[in-house]
Amino acid sequence: MFNFHSYNKFKFLTLLILTLSILFVDCRNSPKEQNEADYEIIQSAKGKKAMVVSAHHLATKVGNEILQKGGNAIDATIAVQYALAVVYPRAGNIGGGGFMVIRTKDGNYDSIDYREKAPKASTRDMYLDDEGNVIPGLSRNGHLAVGVPGTVDGMEEVHKKYGKIKDFKVLIQPAIDLASNGFLLTPMEIERFNRFKKDFVKYNKSPNAFIKDTLWVEGDRLVQKDLANTLTLIRDNGKAGFYEGETADKLIAEMKTGNGIITHDDLTSYQSKWRAPLVGNYKDYKIISMAPPSSGGIALLQMLKMVEKYPLADYGFQSKEAMHLMIEAERRVYSDRAKHLGDSDFYKVPQDSLLDAEYIEDRMRDFNPKKSTPSDMVAAGSFAVPMETFETTHTSVIDEAGNAVSVTTTLNSNYGSKVVVSNAGFFLNNEMDDFSAKPGVPNQFGLVGNEANAIEPEKRMLSSMTPTIVEKDGELFMVLGAPGGSTIITAVFQVFLNVVEFGMPLDDALFAKRFHHQWLPDVVLYENGGLTEASKQSLKDLGHSLKDVKYMALVKAIHVQPDGALHGVGDNRSEDHAAGY
Ligand code: GLY
Repeated sequence: MFNFHSYNKFKFLTLLILTLSILFVDCRNSPKEQNEADYEIIQSAKGKKAMVVSAHHLATKVGNEILQKGGNAIDATIAVQYALAVVYPRAGNIGGGGFMVIRTKDGNYDSIDYREKAPKASTRDMYLDDEGNVIPGLSRNGHLAVGVPGTVDGMEEVHKKYGKIKDFKVLIQPAIDLASNGFLLTPMEIERFNRFKKDFVKYNKSPNAFIKDTLWVEGDRLVQKDLANTLTLIRDNGKAGFYEGETADKLIAEMKTGNGIITHDDLTSYQSKWRAPLVGNYKDYKIISMAPPSSGGIALLQMLKMVEKYPLADYGFQSKEAMHLMIEAERRVYSDRAKHLGDSDFYKVPQDSLLDAEYIEDRMRDFNPKKSTPSDMVAAGSFAVPMETFETTHTSVIDEAGNAVSVTTTLNSNYGSKVVVSNAGFFLNNEMDDFSAKPGVPNQFGLVGNEANAIEPEKRMLSSMTPTIVEKDGELFMVLGAPGGSTIITAVFQVFLNVVEFGMPLDDALFAKRFHHQWLPDVVLYENGGLTEASKQSLKDLGHSLKDVKYMALVKAIHVQPDGALHGVGDNRSEDHAAGY
């Protein structure tokens, strides 16, 4: 077991600050029984039958409880999704969207897209000024950045189709209890609440649970009465509890306090979509991943095909040869992403061509093992490098019967648009920034796009989320995915190769530092301390530019061991928690 940290008992000073800090109705910090603070974060866990890995220990606990009550992996995932909406407000959500890939115990695959949609009143140039320039921040913060949320509809759809515990109330009640009774904030959430406080204040006109007059400190608990009420409406009315009635009225009223354009009609007409998952092979492995409007599946399969014929295992983990090859594959794939990928309901994504073996071979024809290939469209100095503002979240689940779920969900940035629906207690996404606001102008992840990902009413914005399931010889082998914006796809690619090519146990594979190239900007990002000086020099000698970042994606994965036991691992870059039995 890997112990990230454990809390000590409350300090007297903390309690004093807590007592003084109750200002807003929805925010209460009260001393709780001491053992609440004594939890342990476990990032690497073994289980014989079932496993849940999520971004928060309380959500993982909820998932395990549902499994032990006889729920299947889909039931547990729904319960985790709602629990994360309470305990992990920076990405867990009801105001966002996501993608879920399912492999049933019988070996059938399915996937659902509950990605947000552009409101019907959106226009292609809605983030441009009169001169046609992108207005900084307009697609990232505030009411106009919000896409029509899909999570509640998505959860209802998967429950109808796959739920074993038929009473939905059982699945959502743990989240309601957490919101209503409160829970102890983790150090990372505290840090972010304080970091984003000025944005919470700027983009919200009413008090909410996330803002208080003093800074949040260790020992603070978050109580969310408004959110508990909203979740109760969903519990009692299903998706109508969100897209209609009181919650919808509050959401539309919130839109009107800013420059939001979502209408009642947008909410009632939202529908998730069941889509055929993308399925491809890498050697003996079958990869099942997400189709557009996520770029994740296509990009992952393209990268794997590009490197498949090279002796990666002989090259060795993070050898000059292996990294150079992987970087060059990443570069080419992200250039395809920028040009060809978008919502296939609106744009004819050339999926078959992009995955065609000859095309992929051709794409690597100019690969030079001795030299980097410069990305040829670098606009001087204008490309943002993705930093740590992104936040999405992933959950991997396997149940006793062998059903597996890989689900990634997001508000986009930390706390999305920073807008909390007044009196309803939940953050709204800023997913509109995942569109290409203007051809060639990068979004918050430094990703550029084009026609394929231009804004259109009711279109879904392109995503990098890569919920993935892997089979070997027809048997379930791995479930994995991550948050991390543009770095999600390369993280899934590298963790998979760390296991299958570099022979690492899942925890080493996941904890190993990663690198990332996304075509533009033409730079290899690497995690602090991740590369030796010699490795860095060898990449520079090949012509690569390098830049270090604190960390990138946060992978959550489960590996089915040869004896059938499950190894669940969350990322040690965060407070992920794995637990099974
Ligand atoms: N919002 C991040 C993504 O969908 O890629």
